[in-house]
Amino acid sequence: MAVNNIFFIFSAMRTYDNRRYRKNKIYRDLFAEVTIDPKQLIQPLFLYEGLQENREIPNLTGQFQYSLEGIKQKISHGLKAKLSSFLLFIVPEKKAEDSFQYDFDCESIRQIKEEFGEDILLFNDLCLCSQTTNGHCCLYDSHGVYAHGKTLSTLNEKALLYAQAGSDVISPSDMNDHRIKEIRQTLDNNQREDTLIMSYSTKFASHFYGPFRDAAQSAPGFGDRKSYQIDYRNRHDALSSSIRDYQQGADILMVKPAMNYLDIIQGLKNTPELHQIPLAAYHVSGHYQSLKLMEKQNLVDFDKAYEECLYSMKRAGADLIITYGAADYCQRN
Ligand code: PBG
Repeated sequence: MAVNNIFFIFSAMRTYDNRRYRKNKIYRDLFAEVTIDPKQLIQPLFLYEGLQENREIPNLTGQFQYSLEGIKQKISHGLKAKLSSFLLFIVPEKKAEDSFQYDFDCESIRQIKEEFGEDILLFNDLCLCSQTTNGHCCLYDSHGVYAHGKTLSTLNEKALLYAQAGSDVISPSDMNDHRIKEIRQTLDNNQREDTLIMSYSTKFASHFYGPFRDAAQSAPGFGDRKSYQIDYRNRHDALSSSIRDYQQGADILMVKPAMNYLDIIQGLKNTPELHQIPLAAYHVSGHYQSLKLMEKQNLVDFDKAYEECLYSMKRAGADLIITYGAADYCQRN
C-alpha cells in the first residue's frame, strides 16, 4: 500500500527514473506490488472411486487420479509445504441417468476431515457431469428437454450431504440458474450456516477445459455446454453473472478460466458492490498443460512462466488462485 502511494505522489509531481527501482532483486522485491502467498493457493485433486493405485493423468502432466489413501498422502505432503486448501473432484465408478449414490463421496469427505480437521480447508466441486451418463452438468427429461427443477433438487441434495459429511466449502460449477440461492437456503435450513459456498460464478464456455474432461471423465456425450456456460464474447453477461451469485448468497466468486479473462477479474474487483467478497481465479487445465507441453519442447522454463501466470492473475485482482501446480509451487518456494 505504502509503496503504491509513494509512486502515486511521485508520478503526480515529476517523471521518475524507473530503472532506479529495478537495480537488483532486493530492489525489485521491495517494490513489488503483489505477492503470492501459498496459503491463498488451492490445489485441485481428483479422487476416483474403486481405484487401488494412483494413476497419472496422461494429458495433465504431473497430476494424478487418486485413491482415497493417495489423496490423504497428497494432502499431507501439501500441508508440509504450507498448502492448506484443496478442491476435491470425486469421480464415481458408475454413471447413472438420474438416481445417484454418494456413499463413497461422503465417506471420503468424512475420513479426510477426520484425519486433517481444522488444518485444511476442504473445497468440494459440486456438479453432475462426472456422474451422469450424458456427461452434462444438468439433467434432461425423457424427451431430452432440460429439467431445471430436477437438476436443482439433485444439486441441493448433494450439497447438503457433502456439507453434513464435513465439507468446508461447497463449490457449484454447474452454471444452472438459481442454484446458489437454493443451496444457501438448504444449508441454512439444515444447520449448515457455517458452510461456505464458492460459486463458479463467471464460467465461460471455454475450449481450455479439454485435459480436465479427460481427467474427470466429464466430457459432454452430445453437443456442448454453450447453453449454460457464458459466451466468451460477452463482458456484461460475465460481470452480471457474478453479481447475481453474490446477491444469491455466494461467499466466494470465481472467474474461470482466468488466463484469457483477466479483464473480467479486474472488472469484478473494481465493482463497488463486490469490494468485500473474495474473488478466486481458476488457472484451468488447458492453460496449465500448454505450459507443460512448451516445457517439453524446451520453449519455456515452466517454473518461471508458471509464476508469471500466477502474478498476472494476482495483479488483475484475484485473491485466491485454483491451480494444478499449487503443491509443486509451494514445495519450490
Ligand atoms: C465441471 C468442471 C469443469 C472444470 C471444472 N469443473 C469442466 C467443464 O465445465 O466442462 C474445468 C477445470 C479445468 O479445465 O481445469 N463442471
